Amino acid sequence: MPSTVVILGTGGTIAGTAASADDHTGYAAAQRGVAELVAAVPQLAGQAIEAEQLAQLDSKDMDHATWQRLAQRAAHHLARPEVCGVVVTHGTDTMEETAWFLQRVLAPAKPLVLTGAMRPATALQADGPQNLLDAVTVAREPGACGVVVVMAGQVHGAHDVRKLHTYRLDAFGSGDAGPIARVEQGRLRRHRTWPVGKPLGLACIGFEPASWPRVELVFSHAGASGTLVDALVAGGVHGLVVAGTGNGTLHQALEPALRRAATAGVPVLRCTRCAGGALVGEFDMGLTPAATLSPWQARVELMLGLLASPAAA
Ligand code: SIN
Repeated sequence: MPSTVVILGTGGTIAGTAASADDHTGYAAAQRGVAELVAAVPQLAGQAIEAEQLAQLDSKDMDHATWQRLAQRAAHHLARPEVCGVVVTHGTDTMEETAWFLQRVLAPAKPLVLTGAMRPATALQADGPQNLLDAVTVAREPGACGVVVVMAGQVHGAHDVRKLHTYRLDAFGSGDAGPIARVEQGRLRRHRTWPVGKPLGLACIGFEPASWPRVELVFSHAGASGTLVDALVAGGVHGLVVAGTGNGTLHQALEPALRRAATAGVPVLRCTRCAGGALVGEFDMGLTPAATLSPWQARVELMLGLLASPAAA
């Protein structure tokens, strides 16, 4: 039975430090090494755990080169027969983008678990140690698979997970789908199935990250115009994601520019800027609906789609 859990550290608030224990906002993210984070959880002592520092950054600064290395290292460790699962400590701000990226590239047959914290490691009641312990529990769960996020005792699938709150410890949710499971006293209470899918594979991200397709986000809003879209197309953008209002509707001054972009060969994905719900109903071709993805996940989706079939770029 594989029993080793590999923990890849990438930084974030879970590794952050503040000058005082009651400061939850004025801290520096990504200060403590992943080995220190593991050592801060006595319950992990004696367990078969390997810690590897993959990066040390505030996840607001996440970049494609780090994503590439993360996917490669995670795949390497997941392929080891003695490894039952991999945990990634990560900032919460872009965790849902990284989760979707890893799910689409790897869709692993073993659990790949992202976790983080809303409070720095120096806080009086830091949430990082419990989240890390819960993440390791999920990484050891027999039959678990796919990319999930473990925060505040909940297990969210890569597709549904959203960061919904700026400050609360339970900042993450899975919208209408609900969490996959809850971690209670070191045991999982399951609600639904693990994420599955056909992986695009590491080969699709094997290119120099600086050459990955440039996919930008635009929003429909009161007073919108097509100026930004026209400028992006003139600047050589490879793809666009538009976050529409409500059920994906677009301002009448913005939509023609998006249609011009699509006609000029720039693929456009349409999604909603609403925090919950999917695009419902029929949509005409040209501005393809990304029905259930958040705008930033849709950006990942389109970028990977272009990498997987460069002819479309
Ligand atoms: C980050 O995303 O790296 C900082 C914020 C956080 O982890 O909560």
